[in-house]
Amino acid sequence: MHKIAVIPGDGTGPEVVVEGLKALDAVAAKQGFKYETVEFDFGGDRYLRTGEVLPDSAADDFRQFDAIYLGAIGHPDVKPGILEKGILLRLRFELDQYINLRPVKLYPNVPTPIKDKGPEDIDFVVVRENTEGLYAGSGGFLKKGTPDEIAVQESINTRKGVERCLRYAFEYTQRRNKDNTLTLCGKTNVLTYAFDLWERVFEEIGAADYPAIKRDYAHVDAICMWMVKNPEWFDVVVTDNMFGDIITDLGAMIQGGMGIAAGGNINPEGVSMFEPIGGSAPKYTGQNIINPMAAIGACQLMLDTLGEYEGANILEGAIVSTLTKLDDMGAGRMGYSTAEVGDLVAQAVADA
Ligand code: IPM
Ligand code: MN
Repeated sequence: MHKIAVIPGDGTGPEVVVEGLKALDAVAAKQGFKYETVEFDFGGDRYLRTGEVLPDSAADDFRQFDAIYLGAIGHPDVKPGILEKGILLRLRFELDQYINLRPVKLYPNVPTPIKDKGPEDIDFVVVRENTEGLYAGSGGFLKKGTPDEIAVQESINTRKGVERCLRYAFEYTQRRNKDNTLTLCGKTNVLTYAFDLWERVFEEIGAADYPAIKRDYAHVDAICMWMVKNPEWFDVVVTDNMFGDIITDLGAMIQGGMGIAAGGNINPEGVSMFEPIGGSAPKYTGQNIINPMAAIGACQLMLDTLGEYEGANILEGAIVSTLTKLDDMGAGRMGYSTAEVGDLVAQAVADA
């Protein structure tokens, strides 16, 4: 029995979550596993109603679950930062979800803005560190609001945090067994402390424990060029929190956009949280036009992490066959209704 906490969240989050749960239900029926869901109303509406972003008990409550399935966080009437920091980042930190896993995979029939590249060229995974770096919240103001104001925002990189992220990336590259190449994305020519540590640990544990994995390196600015010019070069890319945030939005675009891209916030020893990465798209709320594929993809990542490998494969097959049948699917908005797409995927699972 898998216990799944569901946070539909804001804007179009609830609409796409419904479709992801439809897919989950179809996979469970097919594979004969049981699951239960418990819904949590965290998000902008609850905050506006109660003044509370996230109860202090939330992380402990979530520890009773096997996974968290999240729609989207972000509300037009709430100042930017409050919900992102107070819900999403807080849960990542408190549940120690130290990996942000973002597959960048172009499915057949999905348009990519990159000319002359197809599904055989765009298929890599970004492993982003998810609890440290510039996101750690270290720093502060001096003389705030005066002409002498100083704002400091420090990047925190601990040996332990860097090593566990790199180990996860090496293990993942091994398990994926595609090109057996792990690329460290950094900025060793300028950030000579932080990425010196990353590079040393990368070489050290790579040589000692993962000799069969080829180690590669790219500066973050250069990788932005190559992800566009030669995406086929990449198998697995590992990087810090901030660079990972930036390059995965670029990755989302080359795989067909926010309607497709999914991610997992993973604690390999604890509770992980899965989400479409597109945000709440509030202006489309309730119109049944948002592409639910990203949310369905997040469900697929969740199944994989729950150990339902076969179910995850079936769901990916259903995503591919549905995308192959439909056109005009790439953008956040599409020519089909949200529910129609969810129904087609669920049917494809049943037919698998
Ligand atoms: C993401 C998002 C978040 C991040 C925001 C919403 C805090 O952009 O998941 O990539 O910066 O990590
Ligand atoms: Mn981001």
